[in-house]
Amino acid sequence: MVLGLSGGIACYKTAELCRALVKAGASVQVVMTEAAEHFMTAVTLQALSGRPVYTSQWDAREANNMAHINLSREADALVVAPASADFMAKLLHGRADDLLSLMCLARPLDSVPLIVAPAMNREMWANPATQRNVAQLKADGVHVLDVGQGDQACGETGDGRMLEADEILEDLQAFFTPPVLRGRHVLVTAGPTYEAIDPVRGITNLSSGKMGFAIARAARMAGAQVSLVAGPVSLPTPRGVQRVAVRSAQEMLQAVQAQVDSVDVFIACAAVADWRPAASADQKIKKDGTGQTPQLHFVENPDILATVAQSPRAQSGALYCVGFAAESHDLLAHATAKRARKQVPLLVGNIGPSTFGQDDNALLLVDAQGATELPRASKLDLADDLIAEIARRR
Ligand code: CTP
Repeated sequence: MVLGLSGGIACYKTAELCRALVKAGASVQVVMTEAAEHFMTAVTLQALSGRPVYTSQWDAREANNMAHINLSREADALVVAPASADFMAKLLHGRADDLLSLMCLARPLDSVPLIVAPAMNREMWANPATQRNVAQLKADGVHVLDVGQGDQACGETGDGRMLEADEILEDLQAFFTPPVLRGRHVLVTAGPTYEAIDPVRGITNLSSGKMGFAIARAARMAGAQVSLVAGPVSLPTPRGVQRVAVRSAQEMLQAVQAQVDSVDVFIACAAVADWRPAASADQKIKKDGTGQTPQLHFVENPDILATVAQSPRAQSGALYCVGFAAESHDLLAHATAKRARKQVPLLVGNIGPSTFGQDDNALLLVDAQGATELPRASKLDLADDLIAEIARRR
């Protein structure tokens, strides 16, 4: 991949991005404009990318003296981050008076996508000239990433800052993921629920939410619009995913019901508490000094997955429901029985105690055709595979 830097203070973020890309396995060829060199040295980016940096179209290191052709032919993509207002204006007009803009113009349009991450002051971003240029660049087939919002180096606050390195990395990964769920709306539940006993205590479970969050991320990468109804976990919301935070099973059911009529796929990954205290005390329950323990009575929580799976849309196949089963033993038998009981086309089994809180997992997919194993891997990779399996069945 070619990573191009034009002039802007956001160049400091590109150093992080370069490192993250290399860590993710990309070979990165850095190209800098003269303006970029005012903000970041080529030495830094050479050290991070492990390759000499190109800064001039007159660079004689290439045997044919055509760095602009050679570098752009080898790349899977040209990523310009930061893309300054001036650089985008140049791109728009097909100008080519430095190596980076020359490469952008000389790239094979069909095989080397151009992705730009704009970075500028909020007034420059809001200026009709910039907005016109962005619209035209998009119409020309350039993939223009969003801008971030917040404090700017100039002291002003607003739209126009470059996305953070991890956000750009997510967007690049999404760009290269086959859009198998494009146009679909996916609803995911994740994490535990918390059922209050009194204002300071409750019952919950050890679900970390990692698998459900990874699934939401993978669905978004695959092009879906994604809603994530999450119990109390402190995980960051995956980029581009709409999160609804809930606490109890009843709140989770309400949040799911508010959206489920418009979704195409429902993935119930949450570890919903099966029971809740029949009554939650308004005030903290105090010890009374006699050694007596409070008597707790439980009632069953609504089964969110079963409720959704029994809806007419799910029964007719318009809504595809996926359930999870966290078991401790006899996974295949339990998952098969649970699939029938919950009336879902696909049930994903995993061994609860060996996955809760971990970064990896192994899954057993049970559908009408039988069982498929997804062997132990990171939850992020498993989520990608699971989404591909769901898209195949959908
Ligand atoms: N589920 C749900 N609402 C509940 C309980 C479970 O939506 N009140 C969903 C989970 O998100 C998961 C699936 O149902 O997709 C399986 O949940 P699990 O608790 O493992 O199964 P149970 O039906 O409770 O069976 P058992 O406790 O006997 O294992």
